[in-house]
Amino acid sequence: MFNKTTRWQKIAEHINELIPEDVALGILEVDGKKMTIGRRGDIMFVCAHKCPHAGGILSQGFIDALGNLVCPLHRFKFNPCNGFNVSGEGYYLRHWPIECREDGVWIGMEEK
Ligand code: FES
Repeated sequence: MFNKTTRWQKIAEHINELIPEDVALGILEVDGKKMTIGRRGDIMFVCAHKCPHAGGILSQGFIDALGNLVCPLHRFKFNPCNGFNVSGEGYYLRHWPIECREDGVWIGMEEK
């Protein structure tokens, strides 16, 4: 994810503007592209809007006690920080780097 084709884009001044709760999911839209944004304490992530299995809307799922993102449709579980399908079905969840910096919250997008 951190290569010369990554374009960092500021998306907020503070994470609380995007996700005010300590453990929550939401929808983020950047450059017309919908994504899922999540927070579990100090851990934040941005991943695909839809599940790679059958298109479940991941922001309607939940974050389990281990920090995995659970799809609302068939309950497949993903590590949203690295995309691994931790429940073992063999899917991969697209994700993007997100950073909280002194000057705001930034997301790393691929250059077009
Ligand atoms: S659509 Fe997400 S697990 Fe099936």
